[in-house]
Amino acid sequence: MSKLLIKNIKELVQVETSPKEKVVGVEMKTLPTIKNAWVLIENDMVAGFGKMEDCPEGVDEVVDATNQLVFPSFCDSHTHIVYAASREEEFVDRINGLTYEEIAKKGGGILNSAKKLQNTSEEDLFHDAWKRLDEIKKTGTGAVEIKSGYGLSVEGELKMLRVIKKLKEKSDLTIKANFLGAHAIPTKFKEDRNKYIELIINEMIPVIKSEGLADYIDVFCETNYYTPAETDRILQAGIAAGLQPKIHVNQFTSIGGIQAGIKNNALSVDHLEVMEENDIQDLIKSDVMPTLLPSCSFFLSIPYAPARRLIDSGLPVSLASDFNPGSTPSGNMPFVLSLACINYKMTPEEVINASTINGAYAMGLSQTHGSIAVGKKANLFITKEITSVAYLPYSFGSNNIEKVIINGKVVS
Ligand code: NIG
Ligand code: FE
Repeated sequence: MSKLLIKNIKELVQVETSPKEKVVGVEMKTLPTIKNAWVLIENDMVAGFGKMEDCPEGVDEVVDATNQLVFPSFCDSHTHIVYAASREEEFVDRINGLTYEEIAKKGGGILNSAKKLQNTSEEDLFHDAWKRLDEIKKTGTGAVEIKSGYGLSVEGELKMLRVIKKLKEKSDLTIKANFLGAHAIPTKFKEDRNKYIELIINEMIPVIKSEGLADYIDVFCETNYYTPAETDRILQAGIAAGLQPKIHVNQFTSIGGIQAGIKNNALSVDHLEVMEENDIQDLIKSDVMPTLLPSCSFFLSIPYAPARRLIDSGLPVSLASDFNPGSTPSGNMPFVLSLACINYKMTPEEVINASTINGAYAMGLSQTHGSIAVGKKANLFITKEITSVAYLPYSFGSNNIEKVIINGKVVS
C-alpha cells in the first residue's frame, strides 16, 4: 500500500466529516477548514486528516506544506473541450462590433466548429483534447464533464463521443460524457428541423446506449436553437436510454428551458445569464443544480448571471468553466473563481463551495469528489506559499498552484 502524508499545512480547505451532497443558499458562506493540519493519502484515497497535534508518524513519503494551503481539486461540470480548431476570427469579429448571435447567423459559431470537426480524425481530436486536459489539470481541475455537440451528424457526434470515451479510459482525471447532439440545427436541416431531431432520437441515442458512450444528455434550449417542447422530447428519449439531463438554458432568453429541465429531473441547468423571477421560484422547488459560467459572460461581454439573487433566494450554485472554442476558450478554474467574486459578488468561501462540492453534485460525483473526506478520491492541490483562502481568487491571473495530486499521486 502506498502512503503519502502532507503535513504542516497552513490551512486544509473544504474538509468534510459527515457526507453532504451539496451546499445550499446561506450555507455556501461557510467553508470548513482546519488550520495547521495534515492529510494522509493511502493509494488513491484520503485516509485521514486532522490538526498537527495528532499527526501520524512513520509514513515514508512526506510532503511538507509549511505556509501552503491544500484544496480539493475543482470539479468542472461543464466543458466542450473536444473540438477541431480554435475560432479567434470570431473574437476579432466581435471586437469589430458583431454579436455572438450575428456571427452564428453568418455561419460562424457552433456550425463553424461542426464544419471543422467533420474533416478531423478521431486521433487528432484526441490529441488536442488530451493537451487541454493536461492544461486544466495543472490549474487544479480533478474531475471534468465533456460534451459532444460539434458533430451535428450521426458520424460526427459518435466520433466525438468515442474520443471522450477514450479520454475517460486513458486520463487520470475523472471524466463524465454529455451527449449534446442538439447543440444547433445543422444547416442541412434548417427547413426540416424535425428530421434532425429524429436522427438524434432514432439514430444517435440507440448507438450511444448500446456502446455506453454517454452519461448525460444536453440540449441548447434557446431562441434560434431548440424550443422547450423540442428539448422535452429529446430529453425524454435520452432518459429512456439511461441518460440524465444536464442542459444549456437561459443564456440569452428565458423561454421555458429551466422548466423543461426541472420536469425531466435534470442534474443541472447551466448558463442562467437571463433569469425571470418564476425561473428562480421553480428552481427553489427542485433538486436541480444551477450552474453558472462567468468566463462565458466575460469573454462574450454578455450579462453575468444573477448569482447573488439565486444564492440569497436559498438556491445552491455551482461554477464551471464552459471551456469551448467559441464562447470561452479557457478552462482555468482559478480565473472562474476570480470572475465570480468580482462580478457575481460571491465570497471566496462561496466560490470554493461552488467549484468543489457543488460542481461534484452537478456531475453526480458528490460521494467521491468535491471535498477532503475519508474514503473520497485523493484529488487535491497544494498551493504555493499564500496567505489565505481569499488570496486564491484575489490574485487573479497568477498561478498559485505548486503541486497537483490526482488519484493519490503527485502529477505535476
Ligand atoms: O455553452 N451556448 C452554447 N454552447 C456553448 C458555446 C458553443 C460555441 O460557441 O461553440 C456555450 O457557451
Ligand atoms: Fe456550454
